[in-house]
Amino acid sequence: MIARLRDAADIVAVIGEVTALRKAGRNYMGLCPFHGEKTPSFSVSRDKGTYYCFGCRRGGDVIDFLMEFHHLSFPEAVERLAAQFGVELPPASPEARRRRSEAEILQQVMEAAQVFFAKRLGEDRPRSYLERRGVSLETAASFGLGYAPADWRQLYDALRGKFPERALLAAGLVLEGESGRVWDRFRDRVTIPIRSVRGRVIAFGGRALGDEQPKYLNSPETPLFAKSSVLYCLDRALPAFARAERAVVVEGYFDCIALQAVGIHEAVATLGTALSAQHARELARRVPRVVVCFDGDEAGRKAALAAVRTLLAADVEPYVALLPEGLDPDDLARREGRAAVEELLAKALHVSDFLVAQLGDTPRQRRASLAAVLEVADASPDPVRRYTLREVLATSAGVPLEQLGELAAPRVVAQASANHAEPPLAELALLRWLLVDSHPAQRARLASFLAPEAFSHSGTRLLAEQACAALQSREACSLEGLLGTLEDAEARRVAAAVEHLAPTTPESRQGEWVRVMLVQQLSASLSQAQGELEEAIRRNDREAMARCTGRIASLQRLIPTLRDPQALASAWTALSPAPGEEDGPPHGGGGRDP
Ligand code: UTP
Ligand code: MN
Repeated sequence: MIARLRDAADIVAVIGEVTALRKAGRNYMGLCPFHGEKTPSFSVSRDKGTYYCFGCRRGGDVIDFLMEFHHLSFPEAVERLAAQFGVELPPASPEARRRRSEAEILQQVMEAAQVFFAKRLGEDRPRSYLERRGVSLETAASFGLGYAPADWRQLYDALRGKFPERALLAAGLVLEGESGRVWDRFRDRVTIPIRSVRGRVIAFGGRALGDEQPKYLNSPETPLFAKSSVLYCLDRALPAFARAERAVVVEGYFDCIALQAVGIHEAVATLGTALSAQHARELARRVPRVVVCFDGDEAGRKAALAAVRTLLAADVEPYVALLPEGLDPDDLARREGRAAVEELLAKALHVSDFLVAQLGDTPRQRRASLAAVLEVADASPDPVRRYTLREVLATSAGVPLEQLGELAAPRVVAQASANHAEPPLAELALLRWLLVDSHPAQRARLASFLAPEAFSHSGTRLLAEQACAALQSREACSLEGLLGTLEDAEARRVAAAVEHLAPTTPESRQGEWVRVMLVQQLSASLSQAQGELEEAIRRNDREAMARCTGRIASLQRLIPTLRDPQALASAWTALSPAPGEEDGPPHGGGGRDP
């Protein structure tokens, strides 16, 4: 059904409504509608029904586009497409309808509570509280701040006529005691509505007006609200991500409000939890760089290091701006205004400088902490980023790169955590080269020293596995061929991304990535073969021993070639199509059976 809808929908027409697309070869190109750019890096394929942006790395099919761009839910996107392209949908199952109507009611409860709280913003208590902390009534209103009165059950009394008590409980707005008595969760607090990306109220934070504990009381987890995946103000920040090409992450509601109020609209906040992998993924799909802006004390530095690790794992470029001790972003923005915050953000340390700073001051400290800091760098699924970070860290600790075990013990990982992240561009580039841009006659040889299990993303890994298996058994193998047979959705998405990638040439940045990847792949293959050899020795399997030793010897012969940059460059050239040998990339050259 969904497949039929995808076929019926014209992705070029759908995306063409929001950004101008021009035919460029087999695909269409245009300015990315998600992030502000001046030269087109957004590619749409009508045949494949996919889009991909090389700037912000958003991509997917026509349904993904509607969900992402118009902030629709999956069913909404499907309905809209069905209507637009005249496809008839089967009726929703009763179970799905029930779940939807329950969520719908919770949503209405939250909106009603928001109206109730917001109406009371002007009362004396919240007004004087906000005045004291320098939040204008205008700002407060624009963020939907409100006030939960001090009585036990005002909200309950106001809403119980309109909604079943069950719904008020499920929404986390009222609590029930053992005696069955119910009362309001939020009392005598300034309320802060927390919205979904689509701008709907899904939870509240409640700030005590004085020193009462807890300082903030938040909505519990509900079917609408999962604390560790929601970022405060993400709905407001989305359009600003495109302009600013960065996100700024702070720790507090009021930090975020203050930054937004002085015009830093790309600010979001976590909700009293550490930056989670889901948070990082939410950001990674939307923006290439993230600045974490935390307190400058010991706790803030620790939190920043943890956040950097999480962001690296999600394949975004982290930056760290630490505030002077005792000052939070709210204080800074209010006292010194936008320029001071911009200055702080401009001075944010790039991940490599931040990690180097974490090594310590003396050579001795640096060597001692190297392993721990390397562990953070190694969280990145992008082999090129990992390699660069390792290089910088090794240099500043005064340890030769080889001693980090880059060649001896590379990470051969199948990282579950990386599976939902975007595929690293370096891995796409290597696949592009393997399947499209390299000389078809050389692909089998190339495949012989690749180690698919060293690809960090489930999709690139699967694609590499299939390609290597086919090439090594001397079967024809092309991107089109693989797209025709791959069933795994993630792998299909990766194949589409490879298809959209610009041709890889030795001089391109992608070429640079491929070079680094080749070194890493070779070393991964080597350590895998060594593992197999040990296993064969344990089993006393002579035949396997001979096979492994042979393989190790042939891989080892390649090491000097690849480790020497010059030799690598010529190996690259040997494996690439000679100029003028064909017009343009040898599209599926090895792929078509006679
Ligand atoms: P902080 O305690 O660092 O305070 O909490 P803050 O944001 O500067 O708060 P103000 O300026 O004193 O009002 C950081 C964030 O941690 C969560 C909130 O999301 C808060 O914004 N938090 C804090 C809680 O959820 N509960 C608490 O009791 C305290
Ligand atoms: Mn504060």
